[in-house]
Amino acid sequence: MNHLIKSNMEEIIKEVASLLAASKHIVAFTGAGMSAESGIPPFRGEGGIWNKYDPESLDIEYYYRHTQQSWSIIRKVFYDYFNNSEVKPNPGHEVLAKWENDGRLDCVITQNIDDLHTVAGNTKVLEFHGNMSRFVCTKCGKKFPAKSIKMTYLPPECPECEGLLKPDFIFFGEGIPQEAYYGSIDAAENCDAFIIIGTSGQVSPANMIPGIAKQHGAKIIEINMEPSAYTKHISDYFIQGKSGEILPQIDALI
Ligand code: APR
Repeated sequence: MNHLIKSNMEEIIKEVASLLAASKHIVAFTGAGMSAESGIPPFRGEGGIWNKYDPESLDIEYYYRHTQQSWSIIRKVFYDYFNNSEVKPNPGHEVLAKWENDGRLDCVITQNIDDLHTVAGNTKVLEFHGNMSRFVCTKCGKKFPAKSIKMTYLPPECPECEGLLKPDFIFFGEGIPQEAYYGSIDAAENCDAFIIIGTSGQVSPANMIPGIAKQHGAKIIEINMEPSAYTKHISDYFIQGKSGEILPQIDALI
């Protein structure tokens, strides 16, 4: 594997910018690190959500067996936090939106549920783990904007059929939305440059998507604060640092 780690960050960023400038089909694959500079804590590592809360509260079995407890954690970790803080796209999100607008970026495959790629202006976003800005009724299947549902009493009920509402993001043990799953595989198979941004690569089946791009000949560029499960065997370029700072530097050179 031709592994380029260059001591000189400038040099690697220049090399990546010229590679991307010559690419016809770029795909971005993002994780929690993409939104860290928007103030959203990651799941693992320093300040990670799973250091404070048991991931079991987001297990689908647990959710149906202990709905009240699961919902109180969900409300605190996701909705209270979002409603009480000014969460908005950071410069990294803005670059990916610009690249889609310029016709450079085919799509974003995101593991994030924070809706920030869409808010930033990307329209081709494959939400591998769903999206917290919507609720879905577990009884009638109707979807509602999360903002339209009061969460004073938990669990929240469907305004149409009074069924149990669930955030429209994927719990552990739940299947991946078909469109996102097959769309991501298709995008990975047909791109010539694949940028892995801010993900530890710990969670399957999302974590197999970069390997598919690699197998199909794409150049793999990784941006992360620290090495990940991909750095050694998948990434052709590893740029260590904050995605909200590095993406604008690359964009300035394209
Ligand atoms: N810029 C770039 N990378 C960053 C930044 C930043 N500013 N801040 C943190 N990172 C990196 C961390 O080094 C880490 O590798 O982002 C990664 C975050 O990893 P995780 O917290 O494991 O998030 P992610 O990989 O997206 O988790 C995947 O796990 O719990 C599930 O469904 C949840 O989608 C999530 C999935």
